[in-house]
Amino acid sequence: MNALLEKSDHIQREFDEALAQANDRDELERVRIRFLSRNGLVAQLFEQLKDVPIEEKPSVGKALNILKARILDQFNEKKRLLERSTGDRGKELDLTLPGRPRPIGTRHPITQTIDEIRQIFVSMGFSIAYGPEIESDYYNFEALNFPPDHPARDMQDTFFLSKGKKVLLRTHTSPVQIRTMERQRPPVREIMPGRVYRNEAVSARSLVSFHQIEGLYVDRGVTFSDLKGTLVAFARQFYGKDVQYRFRPTFFPFTEPSADMHISCFLCKGSGCRMCKYGGWLEILGAGMVHPHVFKYVGYDPEKYSGFAFGMGIERIASLRYGVDDIRMFYENDVRFLRQF
Ligand code: DAH
Repeated sequence: MNALLEKSDHIQREFDEALAQANDRDELERVRIRFLSRNGLVAQLFEQLKDVPIEEKPSVGKALNILKARILDQFNEKKRLLERSTGDRGKELDLTLPGRPRPIGTRHPITQTIDEIRQIFVSMGFSIAYGPEIESDYYNFEALNFPPDHPARDMQDTFFLSKGKKVLLRTHTSPVQIRTMERQRPPVREIMPGRVYRNEAVSARSLVSFHQIEGLYVDRGVTFSDLKGTLVAFARQFYGKDVQYRFRPTFFPFTEPSADMHISCFLCKGSGCRMCKYGGWLEILGAGMVHPHVFKYVGYDPEKYSGFAFGMGIERIASLRYGVDDIRMFYENDVRFLRQF
């Protein structure tokens, strides 16, 4: 038998053994380099073909080609097997895979409520103003016509930040009215959303921190009819076209006259239910004609200008609207609750 063919038999056996022992990608690669690379053992066999006697060349050459093809087949088969048994590790980075979507959150129901109310007033020509949450006694009380030692101050359980009680956390958004009027001359058409603070026991119906939206409209000749028209237009857009409403007299130091606005309960349509405590009506905001004293504080002439103001509590409105009977839920940030909005 030709010596080269003997060698090739030997190499085939060596290859079989090496392949059987290769159990991972690195070992397999070493086998490939040893047998199948440019200077590998198989290539060396072909190299020696030139020394084979001419009459034997065709048969030996054919045998070597068969050997090479078989070795390649075996190698590829083993490679496939290894890849399958190691899962997808061979293709750890597959850039063609679709991405994994990250769920994005939704806006908080309180933010949604503020945005909706804001949108309605903006469509009526109001613009937005903001003020600080840390306020002075002057803006939170004095310029809003709360006289010193007036009992109305005690009604708003205040967090004071300074010993002399001159610096505090605002108890309502009404101080932004003062800041707005100090900054500009009439006409004023502004709504002022923001966070307010009250030193109260936390319960299902009250929080130490909540939100209000304040509104202010000042111009020549503004009347109580303008107040009613504006607030009724708002209520119809926000609560529904056929909502019933009523205004009842009340007291605020910074408005005269003052009124509470009620709407017919949108759950029972006024016949009485748990939500409206069987009265058929829901109080939704406080309002009134800006007190002349307030105009004096900001340097507006009450003989020339008149205006109306209103304020509403967002958590209250949102809890009525969504039927949430414990307003603490708005701040627990339980996604099972938040996902419902
Ligand atoms: N500031 C009042 C409160 O905190 C709400 C309010 C009532 C605001 C009447 C107003 C208003 O602007 O005119 O309870």
